[in-house]
Amino acid sequence: MQDVLTREDILAHLETQRLGRALEVYASIDSTNTRAMVWARQGAPDGALVCAEEQTAGRGRLGRRWHAPAGSSLLFSLILRPSIAPSHAQQITMLCSLGILTAVRSITGVEALIKWPNDLVIGGKKVGGILTELGLVGQRLDFVVVGVGLNVNLDPSAIPEAMMPPTSLSAELGAPVPRRALLCSILQAIEERYFAFENGGQPVAEWRDHLATLGQPVQVGTAEEVVVGVAENVDAEGALLVRVSDGSLRRVLVGDVTLRGHRV
Ligand code: BTN
Repeated sequence: MQDVLTREDILAHLETQRLGRALEVYASIDSTNTRAMVWARQGAPDGALVCAEEQTAGRGRLGRRWHAPAGSSLLFSLILRPSIAPSHAQQITMLCSLGILTAVRSITGVEALIKWPNDLVIGGKKVGGILTELGLVGQRLDFVVVGVGLNVNLDPSAIPEAMMPPTSLSAELGAPVPRRALLCSILQAIEERYFAFENGGQPVAEWRDHLATLGQPVQVGTAEEVVVGVAENVDAEGALLVRVSDGSLRRVLVGDVTLRGHRV
């Protein structure tokens, strides 16, 4: 499928009011998140979007790299300016994850889930990831950059050895997926949730319902330690609550989950 993303084509099909209306599309860039952070500091409006067909230095969570062959994926970074405290920023990531799942289901029929905190998975394989970065002015949240990498039309064997086995939407579906339609649908689904959030809605209950991680025996690697137990719940800030062997509940805000016994 010859499916080149262009600014004109995206704008011609976008049905959002705010998201993606300020838009930059690059054939190749170092990282859409890096560009979005610069643009946001220069005053990019709420909902501004940076997309690329290829990244030469795509960044993943916890200092990892994000690899995607040119033209194979959706690689984009959304700049949002919610009026919330920095400690609530995970709610923005939650509503973006949910928007992506909704659009993936609507365009492809494929049911993806969320692996805590920010991985998008299908049947235990990783189909996408989200890197959220914050812009602060003093203690105040100035903006959030939500960077999304979604494996759309790629051969999973093209992805280098990773923490989790990779997959793609086309591999799951057995057919290519129209990236522009998917992108427009994702932006629409995120916008609906973002507007609801602006009006006081909370995404955490819906996010919890789409987590693949709850009820599983896990080990969660954090910067300081590895927490081993059963993933019992998440709290309003998106922290994972893990029941450990002494019966107590440990709260982990940032980390990487492995299902005990094997990587997922
Ligand atoms: C992860 O699972 O580690 C998160 C990956 C996030 C990758 C996306 S690709 C678009 C955006 N730009 C980046 O440099 N990273 C994010």
